Amino acid sequence: MRLWSAVLLALVLGPVTVQAADELPAAVTFADHVAPLVFEHCTGCHRPGQVAPFPLMNYTDTRKHAKTMLRVVQDRYMPPWQPEKGHGEFRGERRLTDAQIALFEKWVTSGMAEGDPQKVPPLPKYPEGWQIGKPDLVVKMDRPFEVPADGPDIYQNFVIPLGVNEDKWVSAVEFRATAPEVVHHVLYFLDNSGRGRAKLSKDGQPGFPGMGFRPTGSLGGWAVGATPIRLPDGLARPLRKGSDLVLQTHFHLSGKAVKEEITVGIYFADKPPERTLVTVALPPHFGLFSNIDIPAGRSDFKVQDSFTLPVDVDLVGAAAHAHYLAKTMNITATLPGGEKKPLFSIRDWDFNWQGQYLYKDYIRLPKGTVLRGGVTWDNSAANPRNTSSPPVRVTWGEGSKDEMGQVSLMMVAAHQADTPKLQKAIKDHSDETVLLSRLRGDKIDWAKLGVERPAFWKDSPATPKKKEAKTPPLSLRDLDGKEQTPLAVEGAKAHVLFFTTTDCPIANSYVPEINAMVKEFTDRPVRFYAVHVDSDLTPDEARTHRKEYGLNLPILLDTRHQLVAATGVTRTPEVAVLLADGKVAYRGRIDDRYPSLGKKRQTPTQRDLRDALAAILSGEPVRVARTEAVGCSIPDVRAVGQVKTPN
Ligand code: HEC
Repeated sequence: MRLWSAVLLALVLGPVTVQAADELPAAVTFADHVAPLVFEHCTGCHRPGQVAPFPLMNYTDTRKHAKTMLRVVQDRYMPPWQPEKGHGEFRGERRLTDAQIALFEKWVTSGMAEGDPQKVPPLPKYPEGWQIGKPDLVVKMDRPFEVPADGPDIYQNFVIPLGVNEDKWVSAVEFRATAPEVVHHVLYFLDNSGRGRAKLSKDGQPGFPGMGFRPTGSLGGWAVGATPIRLPDGLARPLRKGSDLVLQTHFHLSGKAVKEEITVGIYFADKPPERTLVTVALPPHFGLFSNIDIPAGRSDFKVQDSFTLPVDVDLVGAAAHAHYLAKTMNITATLPGGEKKPLFSIRDWDFNWQGQYLYKDYIRLPKGTVLRGGVTWDNSAANPRNTSSPPVRVTWGEGSKDEMGQVSLMMVAAHQADTPKLQKAIKDHSDETVLLSRLRGDKIDWAKLGVERPAFWKDSPATPKKKEAKTPPLSLRDLDGKEQTPLAVEGAKAHVLFFTTTDCPIANSYVPEINAMVKEFTDRPVRFYAVHVDSDLTPDEARTHRKEYGLNLPILLDTRHQLVAATGVTRTPEVAVLLADGKVAYRGRIDDRYPSLGKKRQTPTQRDLRDALAAILSGEPVRVARTEAVGCSIPDVRAVGQVKTPN
């Protein structure tokens, strides 16, 4: 079921002559105009043995399907190509130009002339067997997996020993299925821990079920509609010696019982890559920690995330994954100067055409660039792809009626020496997402996922068993060198985090009010912290600022935005009030002195922070838990600070 690569086709055929819509040839014929177009853009899939339902190999085939073909090319349903024009340029793009569509339309509406059969170009030469050449290593499942005719989707992991006794680099993977009609996607995991082998089922079927497998490496993946491609420029993924290949395979049952015995071809790079490929996912973990809980009927459920590049990078490619209900996916870069650069967008997500896309040329992005993006879902009855009628609440899960989603970018550091910094930032991004999810108290049904609750996760931050906690609370040194644990409220009823910078005028104008509150609450079980959010602020600069404004409370430098992420603040000045259970009881403005930027009341009419603290101290619920802070936007807010929960 390998799909023909349009890249290779273009090499065989050369570019098709394209005419502007207003200068179409007087007489459009199959031989002269339509055959080259169809052979280049359609026949790769529309030929026997490939994914498409009927062949488009000659005049008779094309004439027979012409009307439907016109409709689907006008709708841009065919050839299948999800990324939207103007959001990154990718290799092997399958999009027809307006002029090509106009040409085809003219042919259909002018009577579908054949022209001179002698002039029909030859069909492209399609490779037999492996689409990207002879693999260096071919491995196969040891026996077939029996796929039943009917039932829920199946996730099965096949463990295939590779017998590779030295570390290698992999530039491409291709697989061949015996029953391609049921294979929906395959992730190529690596495992050198033996965990995969230890899980093998005892029921006689090869592999083991579920999606809860922690690999030790990855060689990418494949999904319906994707073409196997080699990584460009000698890039490659590491394969540690002794690793097993674990094929995490998702089956859609077809109504017919079949046997699947996958063969995998692996292509090694000649030498180790000079640059290390890394992936940034927005959100990480396919949204498992992003509170995907979509009410029935809701048409615009969003998960947005962001990641600030700690070093200069070159973007290599983009990929998207979600289930049926996803609607849009996108990533945009905001350069340090404020300029926006669209990188990837899908406007009408189609589950059937998941792909990994390589940029035509690397896209260089400077340090400090903020990548923003995410996924929206449409769970309304108006979404024709809705899996339930009427719509039902949908949460994160692996079945195709559950949802998950992420957009990701593959990249390399522009300077290889910066790679560890980039990898560290990616790990922090992931850790912070998990931390925020726990602070929010997200419910994750580990049993449903078929995995044991991992040690880093405690379902209920409301009742932490303090001494048993595996992860110690986040600890930061204040300006005086004292260890502080602002997120762990112990020996007090609440912590107040006052987010500020040295140069935000509104934030500075609130210092006297904060100082006054610190004083007033001295004898109460409330602790105050000032948190600087500038990522490049030095302790000396913070000390100078403390002196100038007379701040009299512990001062923390949140240069990595761990506190920003954990509390979800977006402005300075903004305050977050944390309780012993880890929850953010109040977040927002201190009072309503500033109705908006540039407007100021003489005296506030609402004192939200004081009201919240008064309620907490008297054991009452906080009446208004969230307000909008007015002030300076926090630059470079890391991913998790941006994860939006539905209102
Ligand atoms: C990447 C593979 C691929 C390419 C390239 C491709 N198709 Fe298809 N086409 C498919 C598949 C798979 C289906 C069945 C889709 C489905 O069941 O949703 C299909 C279905 C169709 C249908 C039937 C649609 C319907 O719903 O009845 C038409 C017509 C069609 N393709 C025309 C074209 C034309 C014209 C081109 C070239 C301009 C083209 N296709 C290129 C894979 C492809």
